[in-house]
Amino acid sequence: MRAHHRRRALTLAGAFGVLVVAAVLAWRSWPSGPPPETTEIAAGRALAQACSVCHALDLGAPPRVGPHLWGIVDRPVGAIAGYGYSRALVEAGGRWTAERLDRFLADPAVAFPGTAMAYGGLTDAVDRARLIAFLATLRD
Ligand code: HEC
Repeated sequence: MRAHHRRRALTLAGAFGVLVVAAVLAWRSWPSGPPPETTEIAAGRALAQACSVCHALDLGAPPRVGPHLWGIVDRPVGAIAGYGYSRALVEAGGRWTAERLDRFLADPAVAFPGTAMAYGGLTDAVDRARLIAFLATLRD
Protein backbone atom coordinates (compact mmCIF):
# COMPACT_ATOMS: atom_id res chain seq x y z
CA MET A 1 0.00 0.00 0.00
CA ARG A 2 2.77 2.46 0.96
CA ALA A 3 4.84 1.56 -2.15
CA HIS A 4 1.79 2.14 -4.28
CA HIS A 5 1.38 5.67 -2.84
CA ARG A 6 5.04 6.48 -3.38
CA ARG A 7 4.83 5.43 -7.05
CA ARG A 8 1.83 7.67 -7.54
CA ALA A 9 3.62 10.61 -5.92
CA LEU A 10 6.61 10.06 -8.21
CA THR A 11 4.36 9.96 -11.28
CA LEU A 12 2.70 13.24 -10.25
CA ALA A 13 6.07 14.88 -9.63
CA GLY A 14 7.24 13.70 -13.06
CA ALA A 15 4.16 15.07 -14.79
CA PHE A 16 4.61 18.37 -13.01
CA GLY A 17 8.26 18.51 -14.12
CA VAL A 18 7.26 17.93 -17.76
CA LEU A 19 4.73 20.78 -17.50
CA VAL A 20 7.35 23.16 -16.08
CA VAL A 21 9.83 22.32 -18.85
CA ALA A 22 7.12 22.78 -21.52
CA ALA A 23 6.10 26.13 -20.04
CA VAL A 24 9.71 27.38 -19.97
CA LEU A 25 10.29 26.27 -23.58
CA ALA A 26 7.06 27.96 -24.71
CA TRP A 27 8.05 31.16 -22.94
CA ARG A 28 11.58 31.14 -24.40
CA SER A 29 10.37 30.65 -27.97
CA TRP A 30 7.77 33.41 -27.72
CA PRO A 31 8.68 36.13 -30.25
CA SER A 32 10.51 38.81 -28.32
CA GLY A 33 9.88 41.75 -30.69
CA PRO A 34 12.11 44.79 -31.09
CA PRO A 35 14.49 45.61 -28.25
CA PRO A 36 13.10 48.12 -25.77
CA GLU A 37 13.86 51.73 -26.58
CA THR A 38 16.61 53.34 -24.50
CA THR A 39 15.55 56.26 -22.32
CA GLU A 40 17.76 58.55 -24.45
CA ILE A 41 15.92 57.60 -27.64
CA ALA A 42 12.53 57.82 -25.91
CA ALA A 43 13.38 61.34 -24.76
CA GLY A 44 14.50 62.19 -28.30
CA ARG A 45 11.23 60.87 -29.70
CA ALA A 46 9.33 63.21 -27.38
CA LEU A 47 11.51 66.16 -28.45
CA ALA A 48 10.84 65.35 -32.12
CA GLN A 49 7.18 66.24 -31.62
CA ALA A 50 8.25 69.85 -32.13
CA CYS A 51 9.72 68.91 -35.52
CA SER A 52 6.64 66.95 -36.61
CA VAL A 53 4.71 70.19 -36.91
CA CYS A 54 6.74 70.85 -40.09
CA HIS A 55 8.34 67.47 -40.92
CA ALA A 56 6.95 64.01 -41.55
CA LEU A 57 9.24 61.36 -40.06
CA ASP A 58 8.47 58.46 -42.38
CA LEU A 59 10.01 57.36 -45.66
CA GLY A 60 8.67 59.08 -48.75
CA ALA A 61 6.07 61.08 -46.86
CA PRO A 62 5.03 64.19 -48.77
CA PRO A 63 6.69 67.38 -47.58
CA ARG A 64 4.85 69.40 -44.98
CA VAL A 65 6.45 72.78 -44.44
CA GLY A 66 9.79 70.94 -44.58
CA PRO A 67 10.96 67.66 -46.20
CA HIS A 68 10.49 64.29 -44.46
CA LEU A 69 13.27 63.29 -42.04
CA TRP A 70 13.46 59.52 -42.72
CA GLY A 71 17.14 58.51 -42.83
CA ILE A 72 18.22 62.09 -42.12
CA VAL A 73 21.41 61.12 -40.27
CA ASP A 74 23.95 60.71 -43.10
CA ARG A 75 21.48 61.83 -45.78
CA PRO A 76 22.90 64.32 -48.31
CA VAL A 77 21.87 67.89 -47.46
CA GLY A 78 18.95 69.15 -49.52
CA ALA A 79 18.36 65.80 -51.22
CA ILE A 80 14.59 65.31 -51.32
CA ALA A 81 13.51 65.62 -54.95
CA GLY A 82 10.66 68.01 -55.54
CA TYR A 83 11.16 69.91 -52.30
CA GLY A 84 11.99 73.60 -52.80
CA TYR A 85 15.00 74.11 -50.57
CA SER A 86 16.48 77.52 -49.84
CA ARG A 87 19.75 78.40 -51.58
CA ALA A 88 21.41 78.06 -48.18
CA LEU A 89 20.75 74.32 -48.17
CA VAL A 90 21.05 73.74 -51.92
CA GLU A 91 24.56 75.18 -51.88
CA ALA A 92 25.66 73.58 -48.59
CA GLY A 93 26.70 70.22 -50.06
CA GLY A 94 27.80 67.20 -48.05
CA ARG A 95 25.77 65.13 -45.66
CA TRP A 96 23.92 65.52 -42.40
CA THR A 97 26.45 64.04 -40.05
CA ALA A 98 25.42 63.95 -36.38
CA GLU A 99 27.89 66.79 -35.76
CA ARG A 100 26.42 68.97 -38.51
CA LEU A 101 22.87 68.28 -37.36
CA ASP A 102 23.94 69.30 -33.88
CA ARG A 103 25.12 72.70 -35.13
CA PHE A 104 22.06 73.18 -37.37
CA LEU A 105 19.55 72.30 -34.64
CA ALA A 106 21.28 74.49 -32.06
CA ASP A 107 20.55 77.55 -34.22
CA PRO A 108 19.49 76.96 -37.85
CA ALA A 109 19.78 80.59 -38.93
CA VAL A 110 23.33 80.88 -37.60
CA ALA A 111 24.56 77.51 -38.90
CA PHE A 112 23.03 78.02 -42.37
CA PRO A 113 22.35 81.74 -42.89
CA GLY A 114 19.33 82.19 -45.15
CA THR A 115 17.74 78.80 -44.31
CA ALA A 116 13.97 78.70 -44.61
CA MET A 117 13.68 76.61 -41.45
CA ALA A 118 11.87 78.97 -39.09
CA TYR A 119 12.86 77.21 -35.90
CA GLY A 120 14.55 79.01 -33.05
CA GLY A 121 16.89 76.17 -32.14
CA LEU A 122 17.28 73.69 -29.33
CA THR A 123 19.76 75.25 -26.92
CA ASP A 124 20.27 72.29 -24.57
CA ALA A 125 23.15 70.16 -25.91
CA VAL A 126 21.93 67.09 -24.00
CA ASP A 127 18.48 67.43 -25.58
CA ARG A 128 20.09 67.80 -29.02
CA ALA A 129 22.04 64.59 -28.44
CA ARG A 130 18.79 62.84 -27.46
CA LEU A 131 16.98 64.18 -30.50
CA ILE A 132 19.81 63.13 -32.86
CA ALA A 133 19.94 59.66 -31.24
CA PHE A 134 16.23 59.32 -32.03
CA LEU A 135 16.66 60.70 -35.60
CA ALA A 136 19.35 58.05 -36.16
CA THR A 137 16.70 55.35 -35.61
CA LEU A 138 14.65 56.60 -38.58
CA ARG A 139 16.03 53.98 -40.97
CA ASP A 140 15.58 50.32 -41.82
C1 HEC B 1 8.38 75.85 -38.57
C2 HEC B 1 8.64 74.68 -39.37
C3 HEC B 1 9.83 73.80 -38.99
C4 HEC B 1 10.13 73.26 -37.76
C5 HEC B 1 9.38 73.41 -36.45
C6 HEC B 1 11.31 72.43 -37.97
N1 HEC B 1 11.70 72.50 -39.27
FE1 HEC B 1 13.29 71.54 -40.11
N2 HEC B 1 12.95 72.45 -41.86
C7 HEC B 1 11.90 73.33 -42.14
C8 HEC B 1 12.06 73.88 -43.47
C9 HEC B 1 11.13 74.87 -44.13
C10 HEC B 1 13.22 73.27 -44.00
C11 HEC B 1 13.89 73.56 -45.34
C12 HEC B 1 14.97 74.58 -45.01
C13 HEC B 1 15.64 75.23 -46.21
O1 HEC B 1 15.35 74.88 -47.35
O2 HEC B 1 16.47 76.11 -45.92
C14 HEC B 1 13.74 72.38 -42.97
C15 HEC B 1 14.88 71.59 -43.13
C16 HEC B 1 15.34 70.70 -42.20
C17 HEC B 1 16.46 69.82 -42.39
C18 HEC B 1 17.28 69.66 -43.66
C19 HEC B 1 16.62 68.56 -44.49
C20 HEC B 1 17.32 68.20 -45.77
O3 HEC B 1 16.72 67.43 -46.56
O4 HEC B 1 18.47 68.64 -46.01
C21 HEC B 1 16.63 69.12 -41.24
C22 HEC B 1 17.68 68.09 -40.93
C23 HEC B 1 15.60 69.56 -40.33
N3 HEC B 1 14.85 70.53 -40.95
C24 HEC B 1 15.41 69.06 -39.07
C25 HEC B 1 14.47 69.54 -38.16
C26 HEC B 1 14.34 69.05 -36.82
C27 HEC B 1 15.12 67.87 -36.23
C28 HEC B 1 13.36 69.79 -36.21
C29 HEC B 1 12.87 69.71 -34.80
C30 HEC B 1 13.82 70.10 -33.79
C31 HEC B 1 12.90 70.75 -37.21
N4 HEC B 1 13.59 70.55 -38.36
C32 HEC B 1 11.91 71.67 -36.98
C33 HEC B 1 10.89 73.66 -41.26
C34 HEC B 1 10.84 73.33 -39.92
